[in-house]
Amino acid sequence: MTLVYAGLTSHAPGMTGRAHMVENTNERDLLYAALDQQRQEIQDSGAEALIVVAAEHFANFFMDNMPAYCIGIGEYHVGPIEDPAWLKIEKTTIPGAPALAGAIAQEVLQSVDIAYAEEWKCDHGIMVPLHFLTPKYDLPIIPMNINCQGPPLTPLSRAWAFGEAVRRACDASSSKIALIGTGGISHWPATPDSGKINEAWDREFLDRLTRQDKAALLSYTDSETYQDAGQGGFEIRTHIAAAAAAGGPCHVQFYTANLPIFAVGCTVARFSVH
Ligand SMILES: [Fe+2]
Repeated sequence: MTLVYAGLTSHAPGMTGRAHMVENTNERDLLYAALDQQRQEIQDSGAEALIVVAAEHFANFFMDNMPAYCIGIGEYHVGPIEDPAWLKIEKTTIPGAPALAGAIAQEVLQSVDIAYAEEWKCDHGIMVPLHFLTPKYDLPIIPMNINCQGPPLTPLSRAWAFGEAVRRACDASSSKIALIGTGGISHWPATPDSGKINEAWDREFLDRLTRQDKAALLSYTDSETYQDAGQGGFEIRTHIAAAAAAGGPCHVQFYTANLPIFAVGCTVARFSVH
């Protein structure tokens, strides 16, 4: 077993870019403390590479050619694509793990028809988590994307199957690998409702993760999610894939809906890896 860590984190650009606009600075600092604990846990796991299961926002893929799943197997990745002055993250080059990523992609292909990319541009969906979790950008990263933006979207059951396939691939490797699923729960980014958070829906989703209730996790329909959790809610696919990869219950280490300037309920969680 070489998946040594699995967790979840939010990736809202406000977490870095609008940090100075927060009124509830105590809540913000509690979030940052939870992220720093997550950083420490990943470091303590001895991970030699970090898989980031993300939901990119048209950084690499657009409607002319939208893979349901893609794994980045390049030697390096670059980001952020956003204005560094806006995101408050400097442009940088992040090491990849081409041999390991290629082996993982080959193994995942045994059961899931993924795409792969030797070039990868990271948007806030990856850069914000890395800013907190690997701030020196010295841990090799394997980006993985699930299309959560442009319908038709992959079914939740397939996101689960993807997570299981990634886990099988990790277990077939001799490397120590950590995995983070990153996305919002309910949120309405880039819409007039930006800043709205359905806390009850978020807590119900997190409860289903905590209970390892696979049937309940896979029972959301996209129309229900869109209505209750916004188009940003489609990103639950990243969390579901991470849950499937971990194989154990989720422990929510931090959640708050009290930072609306970040436009998402901010979550930090860790799975037991079984
Ligand atoms: Fe997102």
